[in-house]
Amino acid sequence: MPTPLDSLPDYRKLAREVKARFERIRQRPVILSVRNLEKSFGAEMHTALDHVSLEIHRREFICVIGPSGCGKSTLIRIIAGLDQATSGEVLLDGKAVTGPGPDRGMVFQGYTLFPWRTVKANVMFGLEMRGKDKSTAEIEARQWLDMVGLGKFENSYPHELSGGMKQRVAIARALANEPRILIMDEPFAALDAQTRCQMQNYLLQIWRKVDVTILFITHDLEEAAYLSDRILVMGANPGRVVEFIDNPVPRPRNVAQFVSPEFLALKLRLEELIHPPMEIEEERLPMVKLTNAGDDVE
Ligand SMILES: Nc1ncnc2c1ncn2[C@@H]1O[C@H](COP(=O)(O)OP(=O)(O)O)[C@@H](O)[C@H]1O
Ligand SMILES: [Mg+2]
Repeated sequence: MPTPLDSLPDYRKLAREVKARFERIRQRPVILSVRNLEKSFGAEMHTALDHVSLEIHRREFICVIGPSGCGKSTLIRIIAGLDQATSGEVLLDGKAVTGPGPDRGMVFQGYTLFPWRTVKANVMFGLEMRGKDKSTAEIEARQWLDMVGLGKFENSYPHELSGGMKQRVAIARALANEPRILIMDEPFAALDAQTRCQMQNYLLQIWRKVDVTILFITHDLEEAAYLSDRILVMGANPGRVVEFIDNPVPRPRNVAQFVSPEFLALKLRLEELIHPPMEIEEERLPMVKLTNAGDDVE
């Protein structure tokens, strides 16, 4: 006799599948290794990063979350070679990072396209800098623009594009240099909710097709749960690694998963880590009576 419970997913099976998926991921080569990274700022030596260590495997999609000021941007600026650590080291493919390089692509929240260059010329920029001749650079730039669905806009200028389209050009420009790792610092934070959702789907599609590892900072817990293989949770004062969580949500991802028990369980765990329960001491709240209407609330 079938019961209503028969239609529930088999969570033992899902747990086994998740475990097997992460065993496969951990067998891939380590692409990025951060060892005992420390960063202090200013005369008071404010500790922005305290003994941060982590390893990322080839083609992993890693999201980084944590309260404002916990050192997310500092961490990826050091990985990008834009900033120097006080001590510790970053290895990319086993080689120490000492400065910026084409093996790391960057996409930031602010739009960083060259306004005087067309969309195509923006994507060609890095290719030409690396010594590719103009016609090769042009062919490759077109391929990357097709990949982000902007082939028709190659001759437009950045000011003619929407925010989402500009970020797609920025992604094409970063990927055109064939980086080993794509580093993104809150790239969709300035976009409206609907565009952000489209961009997340674009990014997942691109990541599936391109041999690239992604390190993606966000303050949006749902975004982290939707995109990532693993989520690096950081804490503040001092900036440090709190937890590195295996994301149990199966791939391929779709919006229906936003209400799945595994998605909600992950989100709850992230909430607990990022926003520990607030303790409000009732007697210390100001005794201001603004209205009599609220006498019934509990
Ligand atoms: N160039 C700098 N000079 C001094 N302090 C800095 C500098 N950059 C970052 N900090 C400090 O380091 C801490 C981490 O900053 P940041 O990496 O930007 O955090 P997040 O990106 O997580 O919000 C903050 O306390 C910030 O004030
Ligand atoms: Mg930041």
